[in-house]
Amino acid sequence: VTASTAQAAQAVKVLPDAQTVTSVTHWTDTLFSFRVTRPASLRFRSGEFVMIGLLKDDGKPLLRAYSIASPAWDDELEFYSIKVQDGPLTSRLQHIQPGDQIILRPKPVGTLVHDALLPGKRLWFFSTGTGIAPFASLIRDPQTYEDYEQIILTHTCRDVADLEYGRRLVEHVKSDATLRELLGDVVEKLVYYPTTTREESPKMGRITNLLKSGALFEDLGIADGMSPQTDRAMVCGSIGLNTDLKEILEGFGLREGANSDPAEYVVEKAFVG
Ligand code: A2P
Repeated sequence: VTASTAQAAQAVKVLPDAQTVTSVTHWTDTLFSFRVTRPASLRFRSGEFVMIGLLKDDGKPLLRAYSIASPAWDDELEFYSIKVQDGPLTSRLQHIQPGDQIILRPKPVGTLVHDALLPGKRLWFFSTGTGIAPFASLIRDPQTYEDYEQIILTHTCRDVADLEYGRRLVEHVKSDATLRELLGDVVEKLVYYPTTTREESPKMGRITNLLKSGALFEDLGIADGMSPQTDRAMVCGSIGLNTDLKEILEGFGLREGANSDPAEYVVEKAFVG
């Protein structure tokens, strides 16, 4: 065994699920997105998450759950993350550069998938903060536009700059010729509803309050709220948001679904942060 093959064998042993970073975008002091190569064998459904991470100093992997923000047809994988200065993973992950390697366990799972919902007419994506990530995937999936007449993406953040990743993505999805061709009626069907809770912006307030007051329906020109006959919802945010929204959705008569038992809404917490 030569030194180089021994080294190669060791590298493979240490990082069996290595993927290479292809691009990194820093959105704010606390938010960034990045793209990595996709393992040829990785199949996933838009909306699912995987474990990703880095090697610790002791050589052991430090992994966290991350929603895949890119759609199932994309040949790379995209992730959207917070940066926590003393966070075990994100304090280091925020410094990755193109060419660096990360660990990616190729076992996608999750409940924010079309299979977990019964057929419907209107699909709501409710997100706060980095909880927009699974919906960044789903708004680029043709099935979303095949299955529904209208898709409403709400995103609530503290400040205007925190909305930028989502705002730019929606703009891209609606204006990019190739994507429009792939997705069909995206311009007509996709409605984007961003709100802020701390910084001044055109639409302010927690989405839960805007739902309860009816302001959301009024803004969208929806006369009679949600119903289990027509409306389907996916929720991804903090524990507090998820709990509060579940109660509101149940109040409209929607029931929680799962992969094995599809119904009218599904929930997943935004993992990192
Ligand atoms: P708020 O500023 O009123 O707390 P965070 O940055 O803390 O993760 O929050 C992201 C966004 O989610 C903020 O705009 C925050 O509003 C909102 N939010 C947090 N908890 C809830 C909740 N229980 N219901 C609705 N929105 C929430």
